[in-house]
Amino acid sequence: MKATSEIIALLKPHAQNAAAHAYSPYSHFKVGAAVVGEDGEIFAGCNVENASYSLTQCAERNAISAAIAGGLQAGSLLSLVIYTSGEQVCPPCGACRQVMHEMMAEESQVISCCDGDGVTSWTKKEHLPDAFVPSHFEK
Ligand code: THU
Repeated sequence: MKATSEIIALLKPHAQNAAAHAYSPYSHFKVGAAVVGEDGEIFAGCNVENASYSLTQCAERNAISAAIAGGLQAGSLLSLVIYTSGEQVCPPCGACRQVMHEMMAEESQVISCCDGDGVTSWTKKEHLPDAFVPSHFEK
């Protein structure tokens, strides 16, 4: 696994660029995310809100969906970086953690960063302990 600083250097600009395109007229909170696959392919996403609030799509899940649409295999994503502006690091929501769990590789990391120096990172085990997985219903 690459060093956190190296992953941030690679993915933060993509996450920042996506955040700049966020559609968030209700929360005014812009989130960007970028993921990298095994061959170095990078995909990004931003949050997209809706007047019907519950239809809002998070940046992380949009980035992951773009990666899957781009041909990356479920369970193969190596790193995901989340960017929010300001000085406070923002953790991913529970729904995104569930999706990340299925799509990220076993040895992967999710990293949150902002405009300040603060960074938080989670391994797959850390971001969703005791996850619900297909083996719970596949018999
Ligand atoms: N949001 C994300 O994009 N990712 C998260 O993990 C947490 C929340 C977005 C959804 C909504 O557009 C805004 O942040 C406020 O909740």
